[in-house]
Amino acid sequence: MSEPAPKPVTASTRLAAVWGSPIRHSASPAMHNTAFAALGLDWRYLACEVAPERLATALEGARVMGFCGVNLTVPHKRLALEMMDELDASARAWGAVNTVVFEAENAEGVWTPVGLLRNIQGPVRMRGYNTDADAIVRSLNEDLHIEPRGARVLLIGAGGAGRAAALRLADEGVATLWLQNRTESKAEELAAEIAERFPAVDVRTGLPDTDVEIILNATSSGLKPEDPLPIDLGAYPLSRADAVYDMIYRPAETPLLRQALESGCRTANGLGMLLYQGAAAFELWTHRPAPIDVMRAALVREVYGSGESR
Ligand code: ATR
Repeated sequence: MSEPAPKPVTASTRLAAVWGSPIRHSASPAMHNTAFAALGLDWRYLACEVAPERLATALEGARVMGFCGVNLTVPHKRLALEMMDELDASARAWGAVNTVVFEAENAEGVWTPVGLLRNIQGPVRMRGYNTDADAIVRSLNEDLHIEPRGARVLLIGAGGAGRAAALRLADEGVATLWLQNRTESKAEELAAEIAERFPAVDVRTGLPDTDVEIILNATSSGLKPEDPLPIDLGAYPLSRADAVYDMIYRPAETPLLRQALESGCRTANGLGMLLYQGAAAFELWTHRPAPIDVMRAALVREVYGSGESR
């Protein structure tokens, strides 16, 4: 079946985007633009390389140019917290922002997503959400049949994505959570926060001294071919894990996932997480149900080429 053609870009086309650095690997434009076209929406989704020191300027630009929404990826998710006018409970709970909704007041004075308004009058505010945290739990469940409750988990990475995943998994009731990060102090800080907020979880820093159900990579190491493995396999062999999840989805098979397969682990990349965080963002911006199957097919085509499933 052929895809509906996108509407031509005009002066009234609505805009959304993903910003990050690096950004050229992003499959989000393919996912969102296919979804907009499928629903006949006159919207477009762009990807922009934005350096962290320019994030505040970029947000101000989007605010004054009438952007409806922005997704944030490496390395912006933590930085954006203090740049928002309002934080949704999700961003507060999981300590990172990956979705921004631009809002203005409607005729009744109710703050409303800009994408739902015909005219933007008065000030525009930025409301930060976290749609990553729920997405990782759903993807672990669907792609690896992992139920976090009671599990032993090694999480690598304590940036925006790692932090959201760690807090959300703690909230799910994992039994033991090991946090490993290149900059140890960030893992220690996060562990202290989890110990305080989720006292039932046994949280530790460093590598496990036992087997685990899952290793999760939430670092950006693996995006570029020259990147080192995010874990020292001499110190912790992957054969000690049942499953390995890499939040990276391009390349679809990172060196970490290749090693994990060779070690007999079940594996999944971050495509499922990308899909569900994107679907939630789509619904926040448009107030329309996200066409999940269309979005998934667009991602598979974009990342695997031919459209066959993983
Ligand atoms: P995001 O918001 O997407 O999580 P981030 O906050 O910049 O992006 O976090 C990136 C994560 O990848 C961090 O955990 C980072 O480790 P540091 O805290 O030490 O910076 C990790 N990371 C990036 N490059 C890495 C590498 N080459 N090896 C190991 N970890 C790396």
